[in-house]
Amino acid sequence: MKTVLVTGGLGFIGSNFIRLLLKDFSDYKVINLDAVTYAGNPENLKELESDIHYHFVHGDIGNRQLIDTLLAQEKPDIIVNFAAESHVDRSISGPAAFIETNIVGTFTQLEAFRSYCSAGNRCRFLQVSTDEVYGSLGAEGYFTETTPYSPNSPYAASKASADHLVRAYHHTYKLDTLITNCSNNYGPYQFPEKLIPLMISNALEGRSLPVYGDGKNVRDWLYVEDHCRALELVMRAADPGQTYNIGGHNEMENIALVRLLCNSLDRRLGPLPDQRPRTELITFVGDRQGHDQRYAIDAEKIKHDLNWEPQTNLAKGMEMTIDWYLDNQEWLKQVRDGSYQKYYHEMYDQR
Ligand SMILES: NC(=O)c1ccc[n+]([C@@H]2O[C@H](COP(=O)([O-])OP(=O)(O)OC[C@H]3O[C@@H](n4cnc5c(N)ncnc54)[C@H](O)[C@@H]3O)[C@@H](O)[C@H]2O)c1
Repeated sequence: MKTVLVTGGLGFIGSNFIRLLLKDFSDYKVINLDAVTYAGNPENLKELESDIHYHFVHGDIGNRQLIDTLLAQEKPDIIVNFAAESHVDRSISGPAAFIETNIVGTFTQLEAFRSYCSAGNRCRFLQVSTDEVYGSLGAEGYFTETTPYSPNSPYAASKASADHLVRAYHHTYKLDTLITNCSNNYGPYQFPEKLIPLMISNALEGRSLPVYGDGKNVRDWLYVEDHCRALELVMRAADPGQTYNIGGHNEMENIALVRLLCNSLDRRLGPLPDQRPRTELITFVGDRQGHDQRYAIDAEKIKHDLNWEPQTNLAKGMEMTIDWYLDNQEWLKQVRDGSYQKYYHEMYDQR
């Protein structure tokens, strides 16, 4: 049995990752440390509350004492760091939290990890990062693991900074660290401030669908379960110090993606009550400041070394995602109206 300390496991990717480890594998025990920010939703893993292999800890990755205690008590074999402020728009309007959590929080964990390893414990640290650290591409080319970092948003810069620290801790202290840089994820439990769940949610309510600029920015979409399977492989099988790009080979312009969503919803639900197709809800809005034009991942290295390839193409993944949001409208409603926080307060404020 391997003990995995997951940070940020109540968020979108972290909750999918924990569910995968506990449902599809029998040899993992998971400790989930999460500060339950606006993006952390206890509802995401409610089904695991009684699982003896799952233990939730409410706390901040910046709390060194707490991390030290958790490492000493739980003796994890692997730390997987998902905890982050993750929304680019929020990093533009208020970067301070991104510096605090993404950089200082990662540094705090690395220091605790260093002291845990120097006490003779064997452990690895996997930093879950983004392709946004590489900056923006033109019409051609792909990010590889050797593409120089050139982050453009405060979010991307904070993740790049944390990645550099993780790499340095391998180089300097010979610690067993790993970094993955992944493209845009989509799928169940994504907070509806991000493009796909925001558009589904607004389209269901007949609200306008705001698309930045001319909508021609290109993203390389990866179904979240494919990402989680890649992470499990990396944490289990990669050599110390490795870095892997993870991507979906699913590039699409934002505007094409939003149209695809609208058409799929029209097919399933019929047009809007006033008979308009949902594409008529699309509204172009002023571009995001410093908006990166295109991201695209070359995922050859992880395919070659670990035999990983995405299993879900965009058409199939989008249908599964729309199915999930249609089947979980109560989840969506609670996140949209803020009542999911009530559950959190009932659960944790007393402790
Ligand atoms: N979403 C994507 O498309 C994508 C792509 C590549 C990489 N990533 C990276 O994957 C990770 C997870 O992304 P996500 O989309 O699931 O994010 P998310 O915003 O959905 O979840 C973040 C989680 O971290 C927790 N958290 C935030 N600050 C914390 C702190 N100080 N201490 C403890 N917990 C804290 C939140 O409560 C939340 O549960 C992030 O590191 C992100 O940079 C995301």
